Amino acid sequence: MRTYNNYVAGAWTPSVSGRTFENRNPANNDEVIGLFQDSTAADVEAAVNAAAQAYATWRLVPAPKRAELLLAAAARLVEQKETFARDMTREMGKVLEETRGDVQEAIDMTQFMAGEGRRQYGQTVPSELRDKFAMSVRQPLGVCSMITPWNFPMAIPSWKIAPALVCGNTVVFKPATLTPLSAVNFVKVLEEVGVPAGVVNLVTGGPDIGTRMTTHDEVKVVSFTGSTAVGRLVNQNAATGFKKVHLEMGGKNVIIIMDDAQLELAVDGCLWGGFGTTGQRCTAASRVVVHEKVHDAFLDEFAARAKALRVGNGLEPTTQMGPSVSESQLQTVMKYVEIGKAEGARLVTGGRRLDSGACARGWFHEPTIFADVTPSMRIAREEIFGPVVSVMRCSSLDQAIAIGNEVAYGLSASIYTRDINKAFQAMRDLYTGIFYVNAPTIGAEVHLPFGGTKATGNGHREAGTAALDVFSEWKSIYVDFSGKLQRAQIDT
Ligand code: UN1
Repeated sequence: MRTYNNYVAGAWTPSVSGRTFENRNPANNDEVIGLFQDSTAADVEAAVNAAAQAYATWRLVPAPKRAELLLAAAARLVEQKETFARDMTREMGKVLEETRGDVQEAIDMTQFMAGEGRRQYGQTVPSELRDKFAMSVRQPLGVCSMITPWNFPMAIPSWKIAPALVCGNTVVFKPATLTPLSAVNFVKVLEEVGVPAGVVNLVTGGPDIGTRMTTHDEVKVVSFTGSTAVGRLVNQNAATGFKKVHLEMGGKNVIIIMDDAQLELAVDGCLWGGFGTTGQRCTAASRVVVHEKVHDAFLDEFAARAKALRVGNGLEPTTQMGPSVSESQLQTVMKYVEIGKAEGARLVTGGRRLDSGACARGWFHEPTIFADVTPSMRIAREEIFGPVVSVMRCSSLDQAIAIGNEVAYGLSASIYTRDINKAFQAMRDLYTGIFYVNAPTIGAEVHLPFGGTKATGNGHREAGTAALDVFSEWKSIYVDFSGKLQRAQIDT
């Protein structure tokens, strides 16, 4: 059994706790992937100190030089993509094609942010006074705490670490306890390409260390992706110290299907959006609102195709949907199936745990579709984070948009229609951070802002150049070369 250490101040070190926790394969609970450090607040202390010390020199490394390290890291990720994808499938279950995509997203983000080493554009503006120069530059903030989820175990850490580094910050990184191996793989790559000691520190463990990471005085930025409930705590913890907080939380994303939609395409989109990653994406299409004229035709086809999805171990090339990530996640799914039934929704397909044959040792569940769902039902409002899709009926675009907007979250939405006017109206009126036309709610690329409205976020975005706004702050600079006192707003 392999034991993995924390990475603090450039050394792989065990936790002071002397304790470890197990990481098990959700497709085969007998397989232990490894033992990881069950860290304490004291480990966080060491990591933050290392990051604070490293910041003194790292912030002065020219950004294009910092970016060279990121480019080298991206190249190593390319070389090891297959190994890292396999490790990821073993530790969290999604199918190999998708874990390859996850590593690819980390490659894309690392490359994109490396490009920012030569940009990070500021403004130069004319001054209102003669012989005075005015401009703005981005400056780093210092130590950044990053708390990341298990559903995109390498992509999401890269969304945070790459922009933080290119801006000149240093990092303390706590991955989800369900996916520490992918975090180790990513940090090892950064070590191998020569990111200096202390610049990135990895500490594995539970909520206690998260609390310390969000309250420590030396921490200036907290970036969190996870549930809305935990995000609220993170926000409260960080508020008293006036930390900059970036939150990326829940979703209850909708696909709208109008009566003029290409139905086959819409079915493809709902399958991928609803059951891709076993529904465990914050962008998952967990709600489908279908025009009544095509509702039954759509539902028949959607249900037949969902029923036919091959569920199993994600390492098998024929598998189309893997397990839930953990027993408790599976139980949440099963709980919501019962809630849906009790609320009077019609279970069209699925609804049961799979626990025999090849699924006997894992946390598998059938792809599940409820129809006759009404917007007030809990299965239409609450994030389930599993393979459960709620189908609702509408009789107009306005009604569909109203249903779409009725939830507490606002991450992603989509419409299937061949009518450009409808597409643009939905684009304007669905209050989300991401919107798709004739594509499902998943599939964001790294060079546009990623994030959502309402209970999904707190106004920040990651990815694209928007991420620079999280990991840098502006300094406005005035240079007076007149040799005399010039008073703004007073002298001419
Ligand atoms: C997430 O769901 O947590 O757009 C991230 C997508 C992916 C990222 C999802 N590129 O679905």
